[in-house]
Amino acid sequence: KFELSLRPQLLAQYIGQDQVKDNLQIFIKAAKMREECLDHVLLYGPPGLGKTTLAAVIANEMAVNFRMTSGPAIERPGDLAAILSSLEPGDVLFIDEIHRLNRAIEEVLYPAMEDFCLDIVVGKGPSARSIRLDLPPFTLIGATTRAGALSAPLRDRFGVPLRLEYYDEASLTDIVIRSSALFEAEIEGSAAEEIARRSRGTPRIANRLLKRVRDYAQVRGDGRITIELTREALEMLRVDSHGLDNIDHKLILSMIERFKGGPVGLDTLAASIGEESTTIEDVYEPYLLQIGLIQRTPRGRMATEKAYRHFGKPILNE
Ligand code: ADE
Repeated sequence: KFELSLRPQLLAQYIGQDQVKDNLQIFIKAAKMREECLDHVLLYGPPGLGKTTLAAVIANEMAVNFRMTSGPAIERPGDLAAILSSLEPGDVLFIDEIHRLNRAIEEVLYPAMEDFCLDIVVGKGPSARSIRLDLPPFTLIGATTRAGALSAPLRDRFGVPLRLEYYDEASLTDIVIRSSALFEAEIEGSAAEEIARRSRGTPRIANRLLKRVRDYAQVRGDGRITIELTREALEMLRVDSHGLDNIDHKLILSMIERFKGGPVGLDTLAASIGEESTTIEDVYEPYLLQIGLIQRTPRGRMATEKAYRHFGKPILNE
């Protein structure tokens, strides 16, 4: 509810991801000039970077309905057929976690994406036949944290594949300032920068930290978000100078303390801290790789020298 109001409605309000925006601006404009729907779009990249937000912005810019579902929510081919046959011309259908669609459902999607039709099998045994139903033209927007997990035929059917990148500090600062304004909370520039710096390049984290800092400033101060209150709040939340949280800490400390810095296999590491391998791989690891605290090698994950320094651990050379 409130969360939704933080989301930008138009490309012009969407901060950062300039390359993605520049491309989309052209494709959207061209599609509108031709009065066609936009080609299918694949948004991929780490969680929290605004894939859902961007999909909703695209629908809004195209002035069409935004219909949203997810890979795990579509259990049978009939579920997808029901959604597809209820679309209106030009609609955007957003499928989050599209890499989790099963094979039989992907098969329904191929002709829908390519020819805007559904192939339905009616009857059983020797009298079974396939009938073809026309669909209205629509835009599929798929989102995934792992483009590599999509089957090649599905990936190849997206005319516009776009990769979202981690945000730089300047963009995140702008997002924090914008969100504060929407909350009608006064914030010091340096406080916005501090939140941005500790948000792991991720707007979802920046907005979450902002909400908690705002709570703290309201209770411990007069509501004004100052740099001092921000530092105190972030300390209380156990968010460190790199924005790493408890799970990041457990992950790296486990590599250093139990596995001599690695290499250690993903599944072994996951078991040692009681997390799912896929959560580590999709959620935690990408940012730790990006800032150079861990490395991936053919023999497993390793903690880097930078990680030893960040955690104040001596590097043991044997
Ligand atoms: N809120 C979350 N992500 C945003 C973005 N990229 N631009 C503006 N506001 C946002």
